[in-house]
Amino acid sequence: MSNIRSIVSFSALLALSQAGSSAAATVTKQCVQLEVPVPVVATNRRYSMPRVESTIDAIDWTVTVTTWSTPSAMDRVTGLYPVNSTFRINAQLCVPPRNGAKSDILQIATPGLGFDKRYWDVELKPEEYSYVDAAVSKGYSILTYDRLGTGKSQKPDAYDVVQIPTEVEILAGLTNLARSGKLISSSKVLGSTHPVPKLQPSKVVQVGHAYGAYLITVALGKYGRLADGAVLTGFLLTNLTRMLDVLNYDHAFARQHDPVRFGEYTSGYFVLETESCLQKLFLRKGAFEPALLAYTERIKQPEAVGEYASEGTSPLTPAAEFEGPVLLFNGENVYDEDATRNVFQHAVNVTSYLQPNTGHALTVATNASAGYEVILQYLDSHGL
Ligand SMILES: *[C@@H]1O[C@H](CO)[C@@H](O)[C@H](O)[C@H]1NC(C)=O
Ligand SMILES: *[C@@H]1O[C@H](CO)[C@@H](O)[C@H](O)[C@H]1NC(C)=O
Ligand SMILES: *[C@@H]1O[C@H](CO)[C@@H](O)[C@H](O)[C@H]1NC(C)=O
Ligand SMILES: *[C@@H]1O[C@H](CO)[C@@H](O)[C@H](O)[C@H]1NC(C)=O
Repeated sequence: MSNIRSIVSFSALLALSQAGSSAAATVTKQCVQLEVPVPVVATNRRYSMPRVESTIDAIDWTVTVTTWSTPSAMDRVTGLYPVNSTFRINAQLCVPPRNGAKSDILQIATPGLGFDKRYWDVELKPEEYSYVDAAVSKGYSILTYDRLGTGKSQKPDAYDVVQIPTEVEILAGLTNLARSGKLISSSKVLGSTHPVPKLQPSKVVQVGHAYGAYLITVALGKYGRLADGAVLTGFLLTNLTRMLDVLNYDHAFARQHDPVRFGEYTSGYFVLETESCLQKLFLRKGAFEPALLAYTERIKQPEAVGEYASEGTSPLTPAAEFEGPVLLFNGENVYDEDATRNVFQHAVNVTSYLQPNTGHALTVATNASAGYEVILQYLDSHGL
């Protein structure tokens, strides 16, 4: 099944990209692909939870964890799990062709669950859907990366290692490397169509989608100076209980679901099973091109059970040292705005924007580029 689906998706992709290639002048971004070694010291937790080693396990896990957070995810904790390792993180740095007004600003974009860095750099009609292109065309540099356990980044133990505390330190580590001007010199350059750019930003804007926005918010609670501004998109901060309500969609054990694509994923990694699941979660009828649903299926990424487990035990603490502007940019009106505002008590400005006719995944929605304009104008209006 999955193979047929990916073939269909792939031909749709080809048809679209060929159709698109003659169209609009695309942005001449200059990009370099990097493998960044990121040292991490973090304290994860061990959780008592079912193993996921088949699709039957994955569905059973879904049913079981739906009852986790009541009364408390903490009840599942069986001990601490210290992490002290260096992880290989695959990243893409894109810069504009020449220096401009924004050349001292770096955006760092973190994708949500189910995606890797391609979420921010959609390859179909990039002039309409790629956030990277939109940012570069305004003169920003932008770093996108595959979260631990996704894309071309390292895929360690899905239970004890791939958890929020570790992912927060990876984001902090990448940011600190970029700020110190050592990102490229400390990485392995995997590919570059242009001379490798110099980078030493004086300002950083953190951009995140959903779980990625959650990581940024936890990170800013710990390290307020990690950003000069933040754009939190698709941030479903209603209640952690609701975030864990995964009974509405189906997961499959990644390696069983598609041994070709996901052969290197071990126990504890599952993936959204069907295009229908992806549609329910990410898209809204009338506001996406069917080829973008097929594309979302083609680029979908596994999730680690440890990510879900650690959501219930990673509370958001006030970002006491963060003083920049925050844009809460959402395609659907379901987040608890007060809870988010409470985190950003010292932010110079907190603005929420509801992007019309858009589901949870903003970058694959029809009107994506108009939304990017709103985001980039917001940053510009705050000197970023
Ligand atoms: C992490 O490991 C390194 C060397 O392996 C060691 O020098 C360092 O003290 C460790 N850090 C912590 C916090 O355990
Ligand atoms: C979140 O869930 C808890 C426990 O189920 C409940 O007591 C609380 O009222 C909920 N909070 C919100 C903001 O819905
Ligand atoms: C926050 O920023 C937006 C965009 O620049 C602006 O329109 C709004 O007035 C600001 N809010 C406050 C309270 O200053
Ligand atoms: C597209 O997005 C822009 C920016 O949010 C909004 O002003 C416009 O109404 C949207 N268009 C449609 C058709 O939803």
